[in-house]
Amino acid sequence: MAENKTAVREDQKEVDHEKLEALGQFIDALDGRDGVLIEVLHHAQGLFGYLPRDVQLFIARKLDIPGAEVFGVVSFYTFFTMKPPGKNSISVCMGTACFVRGAEKIANSIKERLGIASGETTDDGLFDYKDVRCVGACGLAPVVTVNDKVYGRVTEDDIEKILDSCRDKKE
Ligand code: FES
Repeated sequence: MAENKTAVREDQKEVDHEKLEALGQFIDALDGRDGVLIEVLHHAQGLFGYLPRDVQLFIARKLDIPGAEVFGVVSFYTFFTMKPPGKNSISVCMGTACFVRGAEKIANSIKERLGIASGETTDDGLFDYKDVRCVGACGLAPVVTVNDKVYGRVTEDDIEKILDSCRDKKE
């Protein structure tokens, strides 16, 4: 097998071997059950934050299925991502209270400024974005979260300030 373990491709960093081992143990514990691919992919994405190519190939080998099958499933479902998460994770709550108070407009404006769709990461790796369900702060609708911080009653005018505060952050 002529695999270069240290190669770093554009879409991924070198895979963390401890996490890979944990994933291997998870798969082994499934004891050869059929129809576990989605479950395994969810677990892998929970571990790695995304599904890099090497992880997909590892899963294919462990489950003894073609890599193309794993890739097909990962590409089909929008909740799986092959891109690493950004340094800053932005979400807009699309729950009912936020939705009626203009969350969709806020979400569209953020996605447009970042040039990405929900579930994607910007090319510079600074932001990822996703729509989420109610985050339990309905009284503050519409709600935007950035990492662990919650911004309430967000208007379109606030968006650039919120993005700038992330851009200004030094690591
Ligand atoms: S609906 Fe947005 S926080 Fe509840």
